[in-house]
Amino acid sequence: MTKLKTIGLSRRFLGLVAVNKVSFSMDEGEILGIIGPNGAGKTTFINLISGIIMPGEGKIEYKGQDITYMPAHERARLGIARTYQLIHPLENLSLIENVMVGSIFARGHSMREARRRAADLCGELGLKDLDRDTSKLTILEVKKMEIARALANEPEVLFLDEVMAGLNADETKDLIATVQRIARERKLAVGVVEHVMGVIRELTHRVIVLEAGELIAEGPYEEVSKNPRVVEAYLGGAA
Ligand SMILES: Nc1ncnc2c1ncn2[C@@H]1O[C@H](COP(=O)(O)OP(=O)(O)OP(=O)(O)O)[C@@H](O)[C@H]1O
Ligand SMILES: [Mg+2]
Repeated sequence: MTKLKTIGLSRRFLGLVAVNKVSFSMDEGEILGIIGPNGAGKTTFINLISGIIMPGEGKIEYKGQDITYMPAHERARLGIARTYQLIHPLENLSLIENVMVGSIFARGHSMREARRRAADLCGELGLKDLDRDTSKLTILEVKKMEIARALANEPEVLFLDEVMAGLNADETKDLIATVQRIARERKLAVGVVEHVMGVIRELTHRVIVLEAGELIAEGPYEEVSKNPRVVEAYLGGAA
């Protein structure tokens, strides 16, 4: 079942077309890679879908509903969640309080209920010592906390913006398995932005490739990675 769809989605910043007529769709249970060189428009695309910024043209549909100009908090309530490329744990809040924020804002749960749900989620992600200050967490724990906070929104669609960045090989393996498990168990549609192609190959069912805001290729990673246009735009330069 199609969860999310964009049709000719565009956004300009002054003279620059950051996202240029992008049409795509994501299905329930699908892990979709969103790749492309620096500045290709990947984060802007996620910002448009989550409602942080509004498009200049085009349309966004979530479960058949037009959400193109819907405010971000309403989209969150409908089930669209994301993590941020530049992580910003809320300082002076503990690990569990950071996760609670997700369910208090998007879901309007009481503190007590939010704490219970956050503790469950942290357990599910293997996070312990939940009253620790966020400054005491490892990078992997911070990444998992960000994912737990997004899951506290109770999403059906989840975007992860470079969530593996900064992790070593073992931590990356751990987080890949975690993302696969939560996607499967919750039947989530997951959009994954990553620069490490090994992660994309292992984690995703399908990828879309952005270059200078345009969608230039789409398909399974093995196929797309051989596409000459993609090699030229991205893989050649990055390898
Ligand atoms: N708020 C903004 N104002 C002006 N320009 C912006 C803004 N946000 C993004 N841009 C520009 O839009 C283009 C796309 O940026 P975006 O951050 O979406 O790329 P990206 O694919 O996520 O890159 P990276 O891989 O480096 O994270 C870039 O040229 C960027 O400088
Ligand atoms: Mg980005």
